This record gives sequence, structure tokens and C-alpha cells, in this order.
Amino acid sequence: MTKIMGIETSCDETAIAIYDSENGIVAHQLYSQIALHGEYGGVVPELASRDHVRKIIPLVDAAIKEANIKPSDLSAIAYTQGPGLIGALLVGATIGKSLAYAWKLPSIGIHHLEGHLLAPMLEDKKPDYPFLALLVSGGHTLLVDVKELGSYEIIGESIDDAAGEAFDKTAKIMGLDYPGGPILAKLAEKGDDSQLRFPRPMTDRPGLDFSFSGLKTFAANKIAASDGSEQSKANIAKAFQNAVVDTLAIKCKRAIKQTNRKALVVAGGVSANLMLREKLAGLMNEMNGKVYYPRHEYCTDNGAMIAYAGYCHFEKGLNSSPCEEQENETQKEVHQIIVHPRWPMSQAFN
Ligand code: KG4
Ligand code: ZN
Repeated sequence: MTKIMGIETSCDETAIAIYDSENGIVAHQLYSQIALHGEYGGVVPELASRDHVRKIIPLVDAAIKEANIKPSDLSAIAYTQGPGLIGALLVGATIGKSLAYAWKLPSIGIHHLEGHLLAPMLEDKKPDYPFLALLVSGGHTLLVDVKELGSYEIIGESIDDAAGEAFDKTAKIMGLDYPGGPILAKLAEKGDDSQLRFPRPMTDRPGLDFSFSGLKTFAANKIAASDGSEQSKANIAKAFQNAVVDTLAIKCKRAIKQTNRKALVVAGGVSANLMLREKLAGLMNEMNGKVYYPRHEYCTDNGAMIAYAGYCHFEKGLNSSPCEEQENETQKEVHQIIVHPRWPMSQAFN
């Protein structure tokens, strides 16, 4: 039986989980820093790092307890190696590698987006390889042709703001609290979209890339021209969300046609958006395919997806740092702690 601990600290969630090859996720601990950053209207990197330092060891202890195991029962420790905030990543990587050293285990550095991409594999209803993946998070919007585990071809991406970033920035312009995405989505439920239409950027030309930065300016102009009532705000939120969701769906349709894939995986924080889920379910139905999502708590940042990605690497023999006993002179350098704040997927997997 293989048991992998996953550590995620790339942004504002400290998360530890344990994946067990027979029983799935057997521990899932998460501490969100939302309240800490709320008063600043966005993530303050230095505060994020310090809070990870405070929380990470208690969460590791809690995960071990929740799984009812001893550290010696673990097979490896996986940690998010990038992309993300450098200080935040360094906390997870340092703890991950130190625990691995102390417990004589291999450590495995994981690409955060591979974690998101594989999160739907933790569900009973999961896709077979190959599949198309739409990764929509706060930092990235990517269309990825997933040929098999570890073989990821990026076929479309945002040339400016990511979808989640567009949600968050537009929410901020509208005076909504942090984190804006889910709050804007909630407000949109009360909106009436019969009067207002936002553009669907870059859909009038071929290609699979996205551009969302113009939508926040469009929203700012609509807000300035509105009467400022709650209903007007809700209408703008709904029209904005329609535009993002429609744009994502149009590009997914093109990508499905281009790749001929039958399964679409939608992952990353924005995959929690209900309207997006409904729209893509309808699209895949129309295209005789199926759509797959992680459950809600595995959509946004979490340790389970890192533990699972670590398990996949471990099974393939891809552990980035062997345990101490296997170490020889040339491998000494594996104890260096290396993180990649900017780490394009195309560089990580080629
Ligand atoms: O994947 P994630 O937790 O962190 C990153 O890796 O970036 O994604 C966070 C992003 C934020 O931009 C947040 O506003 C957005 O996901 N998000 C949503 C919803 N829930 C989270 N956006 C739209 N609708 C939602 N329901
Ligand atoms: Zn993420």
C-alpha cells in the first residue's frame, strides 16, 4: 500500500493531505488565509509566508492523526514546487524536504497546475486518458491536451488576465469583498441579463487563446454609468459572468473539435462556478462527450491534489529526491530546496 503526504502552500491556503492507494484521501487538512488578507483586498505575500510558517506543522500533525498512521507508514512526501509566491512556496518545500529527510522518505516536487489537472481523478466518476482540460484558476487559464499522465500539450492560454483574476479584479472594481470571484458569482444569481451584454473577447478570430483584461474595463465603464443600485450591480455581475463563461465554452468547443477528445476536465478555482459547470455540461452533451470536475473542495487550492499527483509520480518512479539511504555523492545536491515561482507548464513537462 502506498501512502503519500501532499503539501500545498503556493498562495493563501496551507493544506496537507494524505493519499492512500487503497482508500483514497485519508486526511485532508486546510487552513485558509482569506480573513488575514481580506482587509488588504488581496494576498499580501509576506503575510502569507509567515502564516504558512505558523500553520504548517500543526496541520501536518493533524493529518497524521486524521489518517491514523505513523510517519513511517508514509511512502513519500509531495510538495508544490511552483508556480506561486516565492516565500509561500519556500515554506512548503522546506518543510516537505526536511520531513522527508528526517523520516527517510523520498520527496517529490509537484507542478501546482498538474495538481489541479489531476484533481478530478480523485472522484468515482473520472475520465480515461486522453482528455482535454480547461484549467481556470486565479493565475492561469489554459486549454491542455492531456495525452497521458505527464504528457501535457498547451493548446490555448490567456494572453493577459486569467479567468479568476478577471473575476477578482472586476469584483474589486465593483466594491465587492475579497476574494471577489465567488462573491461576484453569488451576486450574479440575482442579476437580469436582458439589457446588458459584454463582449466575448477573441472569439471572432480563429485560435484557442483568451484575453480577459478588457472585460474589467468594460465593467468599470458600466458601473460608472449605472445608478449604483444593488440590482444594477447584480445585472453587471451577471452580464460579466455570462461573457467569461460563454468565452470559455466557445474555446472549449473549438478545442474539442480540434483534438477530437471525448472527455473534458474542468479544474482550478473557477471550476467551482456553477454557471460554468452548467454551460460546459450542456456543451459536452451536445458534442456526445462528458465533462468531469473535482468536488467543490478540490477545485480551489488543496493538499489532496498534490498528494495524488505525488502518488502518480511515485508510481512512475519520478521521485525528484531519493531517500537518504539511496543517496550517493552526486545526488547530494538533491537536498537543495528549489522552488519555481514562475514555471510554465510547457517547460515543466516536455
Ligand atoms: O485554483 P485557485 O484556488 O488558486 C489559484 O491557483 O489561483 O483559484 C482561485 C481563483 C480566484 O480567482 C477565485 O476568485 C476563483 O478561483 N473562484 C471563482 C469561484 N470560486 C473561486 N471564480 C468564479 N466563480 C466561483 N464560484
Ligand atoms: Zn491553484
